[in-house]
Amino acid sequence: MTTGNALRPIQEAIPADRQGAKRHYGVHPYFTRRPFNVVRDYITHYSKEGDRVLDPFGGSGVTAIEAFLENRTGIQNDINPLANFIAAGIANLAQGNSTEYRGALAELEDRCAQTLRKIESASNETLAAIEQQLTLPRNISLPSSADVDQYLDLFSRRQILSLAVLKRGVDELCAGPARQAMLLAWSATLTKLNKTFLSAEGRAESRGGSSIFSIYRYKIAKHPIELPAWSTFKERALNVIDAKAEIDKAIELKRKTSGWRGLFEVYEKDVDDLDGELEGKIDYIFTDPPYGGHISYLDLSILWNNWLGQTPSIKSRERELIVGGDLNHSESLYMARLRDSVAACVRMLKRSGWLSVVFQHWKIGYFEAILTGAAEAGAELKAAISQVGDPIWSMHKKKGNQSVLAGELILTFHKTGKPRRVDSGGRLDVETTVQRLLESYSDVLYGEQLFNQLVVEAWNASAIASLDISKDGFARMLEQFGWRYDDERHFWARKSKRIDAPTLWSPRP
Ligand SMILES: C[S@@+](CC[C@H](N)C(=O)[O-])C[C@H]1O[C@@H](n2cnc3c(N)ncnc32)[C@H](O)[C@@H]1O
Repeated sequence: MTTGNALRPIQEAIPADRQGAKRHYGVHPYFTRRPFNVVRDYITHYSKEGDRVLDPFGGSGVTAIEAFLENRTGIQNDINPLANFIAAGIANLAQGNSTEYRGALAELEDRCAQTLRKIESASNETLAAIEQQLTLPRNISLPSSADVDQYLDLFSRRQILSLAVLKRGVDELCAGPARQAMLLAWSATLTKLNKTFLSAEGRAESRGGSSIFSIYRYKIAKHPIELPAWSTFKERALNVIDAKAEIDKAIELKRKTSGWRGLFEVYEKDVDDLDGELEGKIDYIFTDPPYGGHISYLDLSILWNNWLGQTPSIKSRERELIVGGDLNHSESLYMARLRDSVAACVRMLKRSGWLSVVFQHWKIGYFEAILTGAAEAGAELKAAISQVGDPIWSMHKKKGNQSVLAGELILTFHKTGKPRRVDSGGRLDVETTVQRLLESYSDVLYGEQLFNQLVVEAWNASAIASLDISKDGFARMLEQFGWRYDDERHFWARKSKRIDAPTLWSPRP
């Protein structure tokens, strides 16, 4: 691979590899996890072994973990302690050996399984006696959008006692990597043993997930299910042990080929504060900032953060980069801070470093913030790739119609070190531009891809500030130009053509 100016940016979408999704990312759920193979391909393209690769909005750590496993220094940062707990929890599976992990699980079985079975059918008096011996988490207020007011209302009595028995068991294990791994399994169990757990219809009771991840709020199930605590935990713990085996294998392979020198660092800072520490020190950034008001990460992570004793401070909550949430963050502040955080990313890069920002939204102002932040800090847009049409994209599309934006745009910038004042005086004739772009498509196209192209055209014409198009306006325009939306296959097709074959990945200009 060549570096610096000679590097040719990635110009093609990379299909998400769902089949090969590694088990290590499955050990604990988090919001909007990026497909690991896409992240890995970007990392190996834009950086080399030994480089420092950062994700300042790291979430569950896909960027830093892939970088670590690819012999780079993977740097994870997130303002949310839960995100860092998961990311570091997965990376730390490289420590210790599997025998110790299995030993820890066996020890927990000896200490807890019998009590957990007893709790399943115990009388109220017995439950009260068990409760006396346990430490329960603090009962704090939940966000106003939750169905219940208080933390402890999220659990049935059997659920909270079972989780407390398991937590005590984990805390009593010898300190070290095996205990950390069991804590990760315990935290994944917490996701299932509470009243927000919704069983998937037509599947085994234990299949399903928390409403926190599906509708992004604490919705209590109409008929809450109480899964058996020991087998639920054991399944999660075995997943963690399998994940460890997979990570060990990846590292062993590296050791035998190029030698192993992956490193992993974690920060828990607001992205703007990270800048002071890492300015000019990073080779590549791959990041996925919050998309406006979809998800209030800190509010939704209270379930885990409270019991893990890592509640974020009010200052962190105020600095969260979102619209809305319990603190009612304003959209104008979000846009200003989105621009500033992209500028901070550019400052953290070494001269000639690369930055990839993953984003998708109907609001053009959000894209404008990202593009302006990068340009004003001294980075030039080199590629804009729409990741659409693959199986993950179509799964999201099934949730709605043409107005649902799935997939994402990966904007890649190269640091030039020459800040540029953004001229926003240009004008773009939207209809003419859309018509011209449409001519480059044969019979079918993905709406997101066309929309993203329009955003980039407006940016290049210094007209992004004046680009005003709504999702309905966009759909109407396509219809006027002779295209129809295919509700089943989620693409637009020329009205004059019959498209018979199911299409994935084929629509290309
Ligand atoms: C879209 S998610 C990233 C998901 C990640 N790409 C993954 O694959 O798991 C955005 C993340 O930004 C974090 N975040 C929000 N505001 C932040 C801030 N001011 N500084 C750092 N992280 C922040 C959220 O906690 C959340 O984990």
